[in-house]
Formats: sequence, C-alpha cells, structure tokens
Amino acid sequence: MKKDKQFPEGFLWGGATSAYQFEGAWNEDGKGVNIVDILPHGSREAVPKDHKILPDVFYPSHGGIDFYHTYKEDIRLFKEMGMKCFRMSIAWTRIFPNGDEKEPNEEGLKFYDDVFDEMLKYGIEPQVTIVHFDLPLHLATEYDGWYNRKTIDFYMNYVETIFNRYKNKVKYWLTFNEINFCKDYTNLGITEALSRPDKVAQAVHHMLVAAAKTVIRGHEINPEFQIGMMINYSEIYPEDCNPENMWKRITEKRLRTFYTDVQNKGFYPEWKLIEYKNAGIELKMEDGDLETLKAGTVDYIGFSYYSTSVATVNVDAKRTASNLESAVKNPYLKANDWGWQIDPVGLRIVLNELWDRYHKPIIISENGLGTYDTLTTDKKVHDDYRIKYLKEHIHQMKICIDEGVKVIGYTSWGCIDIVSAGTSERSKRYGYIYVDSDDYGKGTMKRYKKDSFYWYQKVCQSNGEEL
Ligand code: BG6
Repeated sequence: MKKDKQFPEGFLWGGATSAYQFEGAWNEDGKGVNIVDILPHGSREAVPKDHKILPDVFYPSHGGIDFYHTYKEDIRLFKEMGMKCFRMSIAWTRIFPNGDEKEPNEEGLKFYDDVFDEMLKYGIEPQVTIVHFDLPLHLATEYDGWYNRKTIDFYMNYVETIFNRYKNKVKYWLTFNEINFCKDYTNLGITEALSRPDKVAQAVHHMLVAAAKTVIRGHEINPEFQIGMMINYSEIYPEDCNPENMWKRITEKRLRTFYTDVQNKGFYPEWKLIEYKNAGIELKMEDGDLETLKAGTVDYIGFSYYSTSVATVNVDAKRTASNLESAVKNPYLKANDWGWQIDPVGLRIVLNELWDRYHKPIIISENGLGTYDTLTTDKKVHDDYRIKYLKEHIHQMKICIDEGVKVIGYTSWGCIDIVSAGTSERSKRYGYIYVDSDDYGKGTMKRYKKDSFYWYQKVCQSNGEEL
C-alpha cells in the first residue's frame, strides 16, 4: 500500500483558545470591559439592556478557567503534551481598557510578555489572534463600533503597540477571528446590526481595511511576521443535482469566499459590489482603500472547521444547529450532542478548495469535538469519542498533504476545557485537559489529563505518524 506522505518538518501541532473564553480575571489589573463581558448566558445576538453588567447574573466568561492565574501550570501541561504551537488571543481591553486611549496599560502588556516567555521557554511557538470576538464595550457605546471609521485608527494603535512590544516573541498572527461571523452586535459593536445591512456592510469594509493595514504595518515592523486571516470555512453540499440547489450552494458559499477573496486576492468580487448596489447600499470608500486592500493580502489562511451543511431551495428542509449558525441536515452524517454534523471528508474537500483557489499556506486554526465528559472517581476521562473525531480529521489532513496541499499547522480547539462561545456552557468540552468546573462555576478548577491527552502526545511527538 502506498504510504501517506509525512507531515513536513516543523509542522505546527498545537491547540487553540481565546482570551475571554479562558483567561478569567475580567476586571483585574486595569482590564476594561469588552462586549462579551456583558453577554448573559447563552446569548450572542441580543443586546443587553443599557449595555450593563447585571447583579445576580452569572457570567461564565468572567472567571473563564482562570488561565490568568494558572498560565504557568497550563503551559507546562501543553509542553508535556508535546504541543509545538499555542494559539491564543490578546484581550484588546487589557491593553487599551476603553479602546480609544493613546497610551497602553502596562500591566496588560506585562501579562502577555510573561505568557509568551513561558511558552518560549518550552519551545512552544505562540500564534496570536488580535481580536477574538471581544471589541472594547466603550467603542460600541460611544462610537457605534466598527461602523465608525475611527475604530480603524483605535485598532491600528492597538496593533502598533502589540506588534512593537512582541515583535521578537510572536511570529504568527491572525487578524479577526472568524471574520465571516462578524455580522452581529457582539462582533461589530453596532446595536442595530441585525436590522441595518448598510451599517454592517460599512463596518465589514472598515474591518477589511484594518486587516490589510495590519499586514502592511506588520511587515514593516518585522519582515519575518506571518500574518494570516481567520475564517469559519466549511463545505455546503447541494442537496442533489438539481441545478437550483447547486446555485444555492454557490450563493451560500460566497458568504465565505467574499472574505477569503478580498483578503487573499486584494479586491472586492464584482458580485458583491452589484449585490450592495441592488440593495441600495452605498459603501463609503476613502481614497487609498482599494490600494490598501491590494497591498495588504495575507501570508496564510487560518480557518475553523467543525461541521458542514447542505444547500437546498426546499424551505421546509430539516435544520440542525451548527457553529454560530444553523445548518440543513445531511442524512449521511452523524452529529454531536448539539446537532453539529461531523464530516471529516469535508475537511479534505475544503483544504483542497482553499489551496487550489489561493495557493497560500494553511493552518487549521480550530477543529474539535464539543461534547460532555465524565470525570471518573479515580479522576480519569475516557474520551475515546474525541480521539476518534480528531483521528479521522487529522487523517484527512494527512491525505491532503499527500495531494500537495500546503498545510503547515493544526491547532485543535480548546486544547484545555474552556467556556463555550455559542452557549456559554463549560460542560461543552473540547479539551485534552479536563477542568473541574460546571456550567455555574462550581468545582475545584483542578486540571486532569484525559485519555486524549496521551493520544495527542503521541501524535505531536511522532509528527503525525502515530494516529
Ligand atoms: C468558533 C469560535 O466559532 O467555534 C470559538 O472561534 C468557539 O470561539 C468555537 O468556541 C466552538 O464553538 P462553541 O460554541 O462550541 O464554543
């Protein structure tokens, strides 16, 4: 039998997290309030009344898993597991508490210095998402978030600060987490996001310009920087060979390729401009914006991949939950307890598609099985279901490498159990490391190695040879 090609030397085996889902310490050492800090349990789209934190309401992200205080122990566990890379995000509000200050908060900067030093001590490559769903609240309430062009300047001041501070510690950067999901209040900071497509279009334009400026400025500060985009990218199958369903698939897929095209090719696709025109949306572009988009294309593509969907013109088709949006059911696939359809072969399809379309290196920034786990009385977690999920996906990734796709890294989601973004649950677990805490924050917060910990250790240490 033909042997699969080996993973390239230096392949970035790792894990991924985001600041608000695991740091905790939401108001310590000068950190300001961000939008997700005010979101009550399980709701991402509703705008909390008066943008206030309410008494007697439990906010799981406020405590996270307390990484802010346990980072040394956690990073030591990552090292023991053999991780070569760790994707995390910087909380903008630790550096600029309101977002619009001129001078940064030194305590916030110092925290990330310490975290990066700890990783580098163990030879773990940091990969940093600059914004992961956590816009400073003040920019939403005072400026209308990303709708306001000034937010580009505030963001660039933040970028300039962290690029200069960490230029000798961090090489891999990602601009906005899942930029294609930046369409609601949480991500854009626009209260009326759901009813004002014109404002959303303008805000997205500002984010795309900001992302391109980040690439340009980053390369000036350190030409070694690798600056990527991050998108939720999965397959959407036509329900059958009805041409109408295929066309539906193309239109749904464009909700993703719009972003990958702009950030990799450097210009708006014609169909998008026509769509805006037909909807009466007049995008305000300033002189130089088009040149910025052209000059600021990314070095690599990062994407999250959990599940796939189906395109159909049948409005009565059965639907199921998926990653921050709903999907049409696919009879060929099984799903996790939350209804997310599991599709390892879909990963092969999208990896090939992205490579064929852009020829840029790819990192799978997120992938994993969110599920319930049981901690046994002898403090073990027998998560063979997680191992199966990951093994099947990594196997498909390996096939792609054999097919010539340049995949350079894999950072599975929530390598240590963290708070869910979609539902705020802690019982929806992705980690190789169990954190003893329930949905309401009860538990010892102690860390325990699951069976998958030892399995992933072998994967990392054998550079993917042993699955
Ligand atoms: C992605 C996000 O959408 O999916 C993560 O980038 C999120 O922040 C992950 O946690 C999994 O979603 P959930 O809802 O299971 O936490």
